[in-house]
Amino acid sequence: MGLDDYIKRFAGCRVLVVGDVMLDEYVWGSVDRVSPEAPVQVVLVNSSTRTLGGAGNVVSNLAALGAKVFAVSLVGDDPAGRDVSSLLKSLGADVEGLLIDPSRPTTTKTRVMAAGQQVVRIDREKILPLSAGFEDKLAAHAEKCLEYCDAVLLSDYGKGILTPSILSRLIDACALAKKPVIADPKGLDFIRYQGATVLTPNLKEAAKACSMEILSQDDLEKAGKRLLNELSLACLVITRGPDGMALFFPDRPSLLIKARARQVFDVSGAGDTVLAVLGLGLASGADFEQAALVANEAAGVVVGKVGTATVSTEELLEALTSSADSISRKFRTTKGLAEELQAQKARGRKIVLARGCFDLLHSGHVGFLAQARKLGDMLVVALEDDASVARLKGPGRPILKLNDRVRVVSALDSVDFVTVFSGDFVGLLKALKPTVLACGREDAEDDFKQIVESYGGRTQKVAVEQGLSSAGIIEGIKNSVN
Ligand SMILES: Nc1ncnc2c1ncn2[C@@H]1O[C@H](COP(=O)(O)OP(=O)(O)OP(=O)(O)O)[C@@H](O)[C@H]1O
Ligand SMILES: [Mg+2]
Repeated sequence: MGLDDYIKRFAGCRVLVVGDVMLDEYVWGSVDRVSPEAPVQVVLVNSSTRTLGGAGNVVSNLAALGAKVFAVSLVGDDPAGRDVSSLLKSLGADVEGLLIDPSRPTTTKTRVMAAGQQVVRIDREKILPLSAGFEDKLAAHAEKCLEYCDAVLLSDYGKGILTPSILSRLIDACALAKKPVIADPKGLDFIRYQGATVLTPNLKEAAKACSMEILSQDDLEKAGKRLLNELSLACLVITRGPDGMALFFPDRPSLLIKARARQVFDVSGAGDTVLAVLGLGLASGADFEQAALVANEAAGVVVGKVGTATVSTEELLEALTSSADSISRKFRTTKGLAEELQAQKARGRKIVLARGCFDLLHSGHVGFLAQARKLGDMLVVALEDDASVARLKGPGRPILKLNDRVRVVSALDSVDFVTVFSGDFVGLLKALKPTVLACGREDAEDDFKQIVESYGGRTQKVAVEQGLSSAGIIEGIKNSVN
């Protein structure tokens, strides 16, 4: 079976997640004055958003790939806890195992964002091991869910849910039930995770747990072997950020997996994606190496998005088939792109949109796109699909089919994202809401001015080199042949 066959099975998987759920809150506002009370900025709040963090982000990653999740954790008796519960439910997760402890607040990280940057972060949490009563309830519920699940993920953020006693109960229960259990560890002492199937520390965590520095390949090998043996793991995965992953096995040589070279926007949450996808890989029958390859690919997609993000089955399959070239990574569906651009704009980035057929790319196109890119912080190119090109340019066109045009345009450094539309450019504009619409030779600026200005954007005519066109090139070739 190929890796894509396993990915296609993800949607049928059932996964139990036990760990520290958190609420990530973003408060968006603007600053226009200094407070009269203290030398601090006053933020006028426009809106706020709440997403799942910690183990909750692992659940988001699993749900985005279609898996059924059983979430076992603990929140406080507060609005944040109720938000966590409803966010989990909205992902289709089973929350029967989400216990409420009135003696602690729901772990919440509130980021106040203004002028495109973080002004301050406010944390609410009480780091406290579970009381014996909650330990029993939580473990009992997890053990009950285990029966229905194909894999168990332990997402430890050190907030106190995964006590040594819970860990050993769950790891033992998994061994008995012959279910893979993967732990993403926290802290200095990894002995608590002894007997897990897989452990996924990052490089820093692995180094700390071994009380050594990992500076060379030799150090890495030494640390890896030591953790693997001391903890009796079936596999150790050390994640190495931009350097990918190192895998260690008891019975065969270690294996390095390279990270996918790509434009990196935000590395936070990559570890959660690795945990989720490794789990789905094992749950769907892949071996450690196959599961890690897919997890590496998934993490690569996620670091290319803003904010703690997830990856869909389609994106993962697409990333895998195109992993030979980094080019089609710039491709996005309109819906996916709309969400991503909204997040970019919230961070103060100016989005430029240009559209066209780009059949037979020539220097006029290259110049147009380079100029368009300069009008903002990132450039999205919307390509007419093959049917629209035929309609606009006549029979025999396009010469290059859509897939080829996507790859060629994606190869340009000036281009950040490529998407495709079928004739309805107004619909696309309304969905993407670019800050600047760059108009080329064939775009009548006036046709779109009103729409773009209605949401606060603007249109801008871009000077294009005269005398160059795909039609002209085609004509030239015909003449030279005759
Ligand atoms: N800059 C990067 N470029 C490409 N891939 C990356 C990059 N950073 C992370 N990754 C991918 O994400 C995986 C996990 O990253 P990392 O080792 O940083 O985990 P982590 O420290 O647990 O992450 P976090 O705690 O921020 O979620 C890596 O193995 C790699 O596949
Ligand atoms: Mg991590």
